[in-house]
Amino acid sequence: MYEQVSFSLLNEILIKLQPDLKREELQHFYTRLGANFYTIFSLFRHLYGDRDDFNEQALSLVEIMAKQYIERPDVLKKSDIAREQDHNWFLNQKWVGMALYSDGFAEDLNGLKSKLSYFQELGVNLIHIMPILTCPKGESDGGYAVSDFRQINKDIGTMEDLQSLSDDLRKREILLTLDVVVNHTSNEHEWARRARSGEKKYQDYYYLFDNREVPDMFEETMPEIFPETSPGNFTWCEEMQKWVMTVFNRFQWDLNYSNPEVFIEILDIILFWSNKGADIVRLDAVAFLWKKIGSSSQNEREAHLILQLLKDCCQVTAPGTLFIAEAIVAPVEITKYFGEDAVNAKECEIAYNATFMALLWDAVATKNTKLLYQGIGSLPNKLERATWLNYIRCHDDIGLGFDDNDIVRVGYEPAAHRKFLIDYYTGEYGDSNAMGLPFGRNDKTGDARISGSLASLVGLESALQKNNPEELEQSIQRILLLHSLIMSFGGLPLIYYGDEVGTVNDATYLEDETKANDSRWAHRPRIDWNKVELRKKSGTPEYRIFTALKQMIAVRKELSSFADFNNRELYDVGNPHLFVFSRFNLTTGEHILVVTNFDASPQYLNLDDLSHQAFNQFNPMYDVISGETPAMFKNQLVVPPFHYYWLTDSIQR
Ligand code: GLC
Repeated sequence: MYEQVSFSLLNEILIKLQPDLKREELQHFYTRLGANFYTIFSLFRHLYGDRDDFNEQALSLVEIMAKQYIERPDVLKKSDIAREQDHNWFLNQKWVGMALYSDGFAEDLNGLKSKLSYFQELGVNLIHIMPILTCPKGESDGGYAVSDFRQINKDIGTMEDLQSLSDDLRKREILLTLDVVVNHTSNEHEWARRARSGEKKYQDYYYLFDNREVPDMFEETMPEIFPETSPGNFTWCEEMQKWVMTVFNRFQWDLNYSNPEVFIEILDIILFWSNKGADIVRLDAVAFLWKKIGSSSQNEREAHLILQLLKDCCQVTAPGTLFIAEAIVAPVEITKYFGEDAVNAKECEIAYNATFMALLWDAVATKNTKLLYQGIGSLPNKLERATWLNYIRCHDDIGLGFDDNDIVRVGYEPAAHRKFLIDYYTGEYGDSNAMGLPFGRNDKTGDARISGSLASLVGLESALQKNNPEELEQSIQRILLLHSLIMSFGGLPLIYYGDEVGTVNDATYLEDETKANDSRWAHRPRIDWNKVELRKKSGTPEYRIFTALKQMIAVRKELSSFADFNNRELYDVGNPHLFVFSRFNLTTGEHILVVTNFDASPQYLNLDDLSHQAFNQFNPMYDVISGETPAMFKNQLVVPPFHYYWLTDSIQR
């Protein structure tokens, strides 16, 4: 019955479409629209079906999709078709990414363009350029308070610069990832300005309230995201005499997705950037898209429906474009952003693996992998045709978002354990040499997060200050150990810019009053290219890290077992310092055993204990990274401190 309703609406829409939207060369568009329309209709109706203007809104949705299809450059249309045919393309192990601020990395977009060979030298073939859009000077939340979704920040470049960068990237087969901030706008965005000056249409784009009645109800159950700098979830606007919902900073106004016009505007913007050459669009803060009194207003079912609808519409206009979900939420919630009850990804093809990231930091601090095993074991299986974005550091803080039940199961007390981790990484605990900074301390809940660069958190900065060769050695080993895991675990590894040469915290943000109260700026560096040159000088930390990463990346790309087809088996080997798993390709018979040691002393692994025959019969076994046979002692594999092995005997290099 519903199908028939959707067909009749589609017919009505097709008749009403303007003549230039009915041209013959739109054949692919209409095939995809027909195939996806029932789903699009069902979702759109679920969200907005009770509105009198539902049919007109559906018409304007289809018009936007068709117009953006007409705008889509031919080269991207061709790539859409190729990607539809090779639909597992992004699960291949050949992809290795880097996230960066274009100004921090190379002054601006043109500077970035002049450094593309650097990525190729390292082996990186996917870049995520952090927000590049116009935002107010100062109050920009690192670019996530956007005041114009279609204009590039003048300090960073122009649309022509981006276009030329994107063309160049395509020629070099490097994928481009751009952000679309879907949850909020800056209070300086035109929609917010027009809302302030009283235009009802734009007031309906946001959540506005005349008094505290509803805001107070929301506050009962909504957590605070930036408790120190922006407590509460609402901000008083003097000009409108209204409370505005501002979940993040007081200058970031939350968009109201119960209004279909907001949905259509944001879809239009996503397609606009996809047409500018974004292979992947990172959808910021997706967990927050739907607000409900009496809930945390995170991970609501409607937030998922909005993402499904965005995906289905995008599949009609720009099917080659992938979505990354930035949902830094509880482990059981994260996998839902791939879409539930479906084989293929129905929401985002890629999601930040915040759980794995936080668990790795736990293992580094405790030198113990029991929570890592427990946490990974509790992660629900993800869909086929969806992949994790595995990372160690990014531009944000590290949230200790483990499941409390997992913490208890491995014998820690949650609050005390979290406090230990914060103290450890801020250098307050025992002889910790970590130089992180606290972020987002909430005295009401006792919660806190951690800022700091990878190198500073694992002791490299402290070792350099103390001129301590032993600690320097250990910190480099830890940097490589962590990277060996994001490269091998399954998913897309995303290196954070500067980490490839051991960049330490940058304290200059403290001199800028618009940044000083946000310690995340400590790890958003301006790259010192003289220091990066040291990657060519043997013996320097820059050389050691860069060279090892480069080799790791090259080896990863050769191993089909590292493609992400849910082809991983975890082994509990009874040694609390080791983290061991296998990756395999059943078609070729290739097997890789990944063995990592988080401890400062050598550890032993009895290969006979591994349940998998492919490994206990390894003979002779060798490490695909060094090409050497690892040391054995009394039939046991010796794993040096902070070391990683990628072992096999099934392939020849
Ligand atoms: C995302 C961004 C973060 C920003 C927040 C609000 O979580 O990664 O940097 O502060 O969204 O836009």
